Amino acid sequence: MTSPPTGKRPRVLSGMRPTGKLHLGNLVGALANWIELQATHDCFYFVADWHMLTTDYADTRELQSNIQDMVTDWLAAGLDPAKSTLFIQSRVPEHAELHLMFSMITPLGWLERVPTYKEQLENIKDRDIHTYGFLGYPVLQAADILIYKADAVPVGEDQVAHVELTREIARRFNVTYNGKDLPGLFPEPGALLTKSPRLPGTDGRKMSKSYANAVYLSDPPEVVRKKLATMITDPARKRRTDKGNPDVCPVFDLHKVFSKSSEIERVNHECRTAEIGCLDCKAILATNINTRLAPIQERRKVYEQAPQKVWDVLETGTEKARRVAQATMDDVRKAMNLV
Ligand code: TRP
Ligand code: SF4
Repeated sequence: MTSPPTGKRPRVLSGMRPTGKLHLGNLVGALANWIELQATHDCFYFVADWHMLTTDYADTRELQSNIQDMVTDWLAAGLDPAKSTLFIQSRVPEHAELHLMFSMITPLGWLERVPTYKEQLENIKDRDIHTYGFLGYPVLQAADILIYKADAVPVGEDQVAHVELTREIARRFNVTYNGKDLPGLFPEPGALLTKSPRLPGTDGRKMSKSYANAVYLSDPPEVVRKKLATMITDPARKRRTDKGNPDVCPVFDLHKVFSKSSEIERVNHECRTAEIGCLDCKAILATNINTRLAPIQERRKVYEQAPQKVWDVLETGTEKARRVAQATMDDVRKAMNLV
């Protein structure tokens, strides 16, 4: 099958907050999907550094190194600057201008009703996020998406409400400034739901940097082995001779993602009969994860040794993104009679 030329392809756009180096959960959850979309879509992927500020405004010391570490992993994992436009949100100030315009037409009630808003207010206790910026998080996200007139937004379940709100903002803008029956300036994007398993970390909870339970894409093979060796298993399997239950074992959840079906079947069987011990089971998993990470770590070396290459990629991408964003803003200003 020949793929369509880049200009004709449907456009996808997605962003990631710069949390630093990425772990297996990030790879399986979003990144692998982003990489796959490069074959069929016109891809725009960006570092959502302003979104990071909505919750982490008080300590920005590691922001630049976190951007570099994350984008190094993007490139190592296979995002290809020849195929995708990779850029930094804050270097395209047009996002902020569109965010301001959208803030004029977005009812407060829409924002207060966003599920992630209420959840985060309840969950985040160590920082004060009762701010104007945090309430406006989805408005900024709508600006990110609509400024590139994206057709689809590859995101996880937790972001679907934000894409829905983006459509409502697009509709309201179109009706307000283009008239009810005229074609609107903004297309209404859909969420491209990433159907990915939620990976457990070494303590059995969701793999997350903040839980210190993650296996990183940059972890050397011995580190992967050591981390897995400490991983929680079926809690009822205390002795080697006890029969286990893979259905309640987080190690088995990782097998399902990283091992061949023949190995998954074998572990599934031999765990229940106590033929295989947890140490051997984990060793097989470690080998498979290391095999998956090997080409990533090989590519990573190039960017680790010359970090300037990472920044150069971002600069080129930012220039391209900015031209698209500027063209949209010209139309927005016209539609709103600001020029
Ligand atoms: N809110 C997204 C997240 O936390 C990141 C993000 C910001 C984003 N702007 C976006 C995702 C635009 C998709 C499109 O994961
Ligand atoms: Fe989990 Fe594997 Fe041990 Fe079974 S053998 S309990 S699947 S680690």
